[in-house]
Amino acid sequence: MAETKKLTDITIFTGYSYIGSSKEFVWLPGDRIGNKQMPSRFIFKGLVCEYDVEALMIRKDLYLRTNDGKEYIVNDFQITDISDAESVAGVARNFDLLFEKFPEMKAITTGEKVIISKKTQVVAFKAVSDVIHQVRAGHGIDVKQTQEVSHTLVEEVLQQPDAIMNLMDIKSFDDYTFTHNINVATISLMIGQALGLKKADLEDLGTGGMLHDVGKLKIPLSILNKDGKLTDQEFAEMRSHPNYGYEILAKSKGVSERARMVALQHHEKFQGGGYPRKLKGTEISLFARICAVADVYDALTTDRPYRIAMTPYEAMKILTAGMDSHFDPAILGAFIRKFSLYPAGSLVSLNDGSIALVLKNNPTSVIRPVIKIVADSSGRRIKERVEVNLLEYKDLFIKGPADAAKLNVTASTAA
Ligand SMILES: [Fe+2]
Repeated sequence: MAETKKLTDITIFTGYSYIGSSKEFVWLPGDRIGNKQMPSRFIFKGLVCEYDVEALMIRKDLYLRTNDGKEYIVNDFQITDISDAESVAGVARNFDLLFEKFPEMKAITTGEKVIISKKTQVVAFKAVSDVIHQVRAGHGIDVKQTQEVSHTLVEEVLQQPDAIMNLMDIKSFDDYTFTHNINVATISLMIGQALGLKKADLEDLGTGGMLHDVGKLKIPLSILNKDGKLTDQEFAEMRSHPNYGYEILAKSKGVSERARMVALQHHEKFQGGGYPRKLKGTEISLFARICAVADVYDALTTDRPYRIAMTPYEAMKILTAGMDSHFDPAILGAFIRKFSLYPAGSLVSLNDGSIALVLKNNPTSVIRPVIKIVADSSGRRIKERVEVNLLEYKDLFIKGPADAAKLNVTASTAA
């Protein structure tokens, strides 16, 4: 029989949200009966939630921290019984010491090439987690760790000067907040690289990207996790997070003014009308303009409690629709050039009605990759498959992503 594990006096958090505390956490691994694996179960005893237990239920992963600073992760959990608020029970896939084992994580890659290594992501994750605890304790942030992470992110991004990011590959953790901060930093760095920024500038940009939403730590969970529409007052509070972020970073030693500006200005819009100050154009700092693109893109392509993630293609369409108002067109242009709209392995439909598989992207044009035609306009599979470089066939172009389910062709069978 698998061994029961216990933790006592823990705090529970998920991403930037502090959920509450529990006197005891009991992990009961599922036994194997014959060839059937029984689900593992857990119980929180003496649970005190800061907001209410629903804040727990909408999440997929939980982090538990003991008094001696050890952190654990509970993956894919589901609450099954809240009838006794003091003893909440559920099932989960696994339970591990956070930094020893990380089953949810994969390296950020462009197909075969590793952009951000698994090791760096673990360190980045730890830095974000420490920031949360420092802010919750009412201190400024010890930014050294975040800067070291930013330095490593820059090194790793610069090692891949010609990499076109496969945007489907960037998701590395399930938890939105942790992933979001690391993704925003990584995407910002890749845009910064495309704009030709120097290494020292990139390091500040990465730090700003990782800390851009730190002000959300001051927003009550009841607002951050609210399912329905926010009241005017709650909306105003939510919109204070850039100011809160700036205040936190202002009292943190060693944070550059440029990185602070990312926290303060990442919701400003290029043509005005953003918040908190309704700045316009270059009144908004360059780093904040870069972070705005990365922030919106990553938010759109991630599953949230209230909606399913968009594909990179749909998200890119929304971004370009906001090109004249929300974003700096020069920065958005660099972003579009750097990131692949149709990742290798995706199916696309062409203007002549045929369906093709994307083989690889052309660095000079994100809309004209090298493809292989796999089905004709009536959806029939083509046996003899020819590789086509769309840069060389200008009357053929991609209309959009193809719906593999409707076409009786899938990316894996087409390959
Ligand atoms: Fe924000």
